[in-house]
This record gives sequence, C-alpha cells and structure tokens, in this order.
Amino acid sequence: MSADTKKSNIDIEHAFNTQYGYKAQSIASAHARVNLIGEHTDYNNGLVLPTLLPLTTNVAAAIHSSVPEDTVVVCSTFEEQEDSGRAVGTTHTLSLLEKKRGMWTDYVIASLREVKKHIRGPLPGLALYIHSSIPAGAGISSSAALEVALIRVVKTLLSIEIGDMTIATMAQRAENEYIGLPCGLMDQMVISLAFENHALCINFYDQKQPSYEPAPLFKNHVFLVVFSGISHRLAEGDGGYKTRFAQCQEACKQLHIASLSQLSVQDLQSHTLQDTILCKRVEHVVQENKRVRDAYAALIDGDIQVFAECMNTSHISQRDLYQCSIPEIDILCEESLAHGALGARITGGGFGGAIVLLVHEHKKEKLRNAILAQHKEARILAELTVP
Ligand code: GLA
Repeated sequence: MSADTKKSNIDIEHAFNTQYGYKAQSIASAHARVNLIGEHTDYNNGLVLPTLLPLTTNVAAAIHSSVPEDTVVVCSTFEEQEDSGRAVGTTHTLSLLEKKRGMWTDYVIASLREVKKHIRGPLPGLALYIHSSIPAGAGISSSAALEVALIRVVKTLLSIEIGDMTIATMAQRAENEYIGLPCGLMDQMVISLAFENHALCINFYDQKQPSYEPAPLFKNHVFLVVFSGISHRLAEGDGGYKTRFAQCQEACKQLHIASLSQLSVQDLQSHTLQDTILCKRVEHVVQENKRVRDAYAALIDGDIQVFAECMNTSHISQRDLYQCSIPEIDILCEESLAHGALGARITGGGFGGAIVLLVHEHKKEKLRNAILAQHKEARILAELTVP
C-alpha cells in the first residue's frame, strides 16, 4: 500500500451490504495515533507519550456460512478498482493457515490467528469489509489500527471476552510473529486504551503490566501532523527498524542489563561500551526517556516552552544519535520552526513518514500555508486542538 492521504470515511454498513447482499452483524473501528514524544523507547522498556488522531479504520463483519472454518472473505478499499465508473473494493479469500503474501491481507490473517489462539479453536467462516482513512507508511500506525479494529469486530461478532489491554498485546503479537516486525507495544496500546484529546503517558518498565496516565492536550495550541510525502516501510526488508532493535539488544548484552531503561543519564558518563554506534543508540534511549518525563510534566503544568524544547531535542537526537530521520524530514522540521512552529520532530518508526509540530493557534494557518507551498508532496494529516 502506498500512502494515500485523500481517503475519507464511507458508510461501512452500507458498503458491506452492497458487497455481500446481506447485513453486517458487527461493526468496529480504531483510530490512528501520533506519538508526541518518546521514540524507540517502548521496546527498550521506556516511556512514550502518544495520542489518538481523528482518522480511523472501520471494519464490518458477519458470519459467512458458505466458506469453511478458518477462512475469511475480505473486501477492502485499500486497492480500489473501477467498475462502470464506480470505485469498488477488491475481494480476497484467505485461509488463516496460509503463509504471508507480502500485502495488506497479511494483517487480516495475523490478527485473526490471534483471536483463534485466544479462543483455542477454529473461527467460523467470516465475511469482512474494511475501509480506512489512515494512510499507510505515514508513521501514524495504520497497521496497528487495522489489527485492533479487526480484533474488536470479531470480539463483538462472536461475543468473546477480551479486555482492552489483551487486545493490545494480541495485536502486537500479530505484528511480531506473523508480520515479523519486532515492534514495541506503544501503537497497539494507545489505540486500544486511549481516548481523544488526551495523551497517554505509558511506562513500559514492567513489560507485562505497563502503567499509564492520561493527560489533556494543551489549550490554545495545536499539534499538527504533517506527512512528508515519503512513505516508510518498517515491516519490509530491514527498513532500519530491525537493525535498531538488534543494536539495542546487543548494547544490553554487552552492558549485562535487561533493558536500556535501567540506565540513568548519569550512567552515560561511566558505561563501558566501546562501539560508537551502540553508544549513540544508548544515549538516545536514555535521554529520550528523560525527555518524555519532562514533557509529560510540562503537559500537566501547561508549560508549552518546555514541551516544545523537548520535542526539538528529541528530533535532533533521532537525527544524530538514533539516525532514524531522513534529510527531507530534517528540512521540513527546520522550515516549520522558521515559520512559527515552537516544536517539530519526526514521529513514529522513522526512516520517512510524518512529523508532529506544536504551534500557537494564531500561527497555525500561516505555518500550514508555508509548508504546503514549499513542499508539494506534503499533506496535513490532522490538527489536534482541544475544544
Ligand atoms: C513503530 C513501532 C512502535 C515504536 C515506534 C518508534 O511505530 O510500531 O512500537 O517502536 O515505531 O517509537
């Protein structure tokens, strides 16, 4: 899937009915997320501060009596085709036992396999219709939203007891095991547990039971989420993400610690690592944890300046230490600051994708116009303002 930022929501119930000729029995949705600060810290048992975006993936489902157990017929608008001048979705028939195809349908199989494991038995044949307004590859978690929406829709359809935290861990396992991306739990957890207009400060120090605290977003200030026009592909090939994950594991091994979040900022002066690349990765994670702590306190206190400063140093750290930014995004951040943003940073897995900006409401319009005038390929994905 390439990032297509123009899709809006459709009437999913009606789309299901038109496709299959009978009514959907269950409807669910899940939001995209933006991480305000705390990057590449979740899989290092650290801190993150994400929030939900007003973009969703919607799924309609019903039992499909004419396909066997563990089989799903899925139609989505991810790949639209023209039919008599009308855009229609593409249909695939999938077996939950099949191997990865290297396309979006893998996420359907991965998520439903987790539900199958949860109920310890086969799933009935299913019909699904999926529509998403979340662009893929833009760094705002289209895959986690798809996984959570799918688990939610089947949970309701089959009346299965699954708590929100369990949905998050099932969705993460779907990504780790079937898709093969060693991602942390941030995306799935915020999407499953958070509510709009609030950021969720999550502490992954105890991976089994992460703790979390909500905090309302700033008044009179806006978080703008801007897609750079360059898609990232974290799950395909190396994509940079797996290498960073492996480097953090290696640093832990050499330091004889269980996770990098056991280190404090003071420890950075005295650790024994020799490899300069590993030193950079460790420094990013340790300082980023401190920045999330400071930014969360600033959000509670309404201290815009401190929050913005944390965002800016976070970007520099991702650029120079974790090396997960790209030059086009560095330029976009610098120009945004020059046009009135107070804070600017790359968000999500990196290596492309989106930036998040903090700007005063009065300067928002000028900033938007300046970005869109200078970067034809950039798109504003969302504006987060507290009503
Ligand atoms: C991706 C992963 C998350 C997290 C971020 C980086 O979004 O899915 O678990 O690691 O990258 O902060």
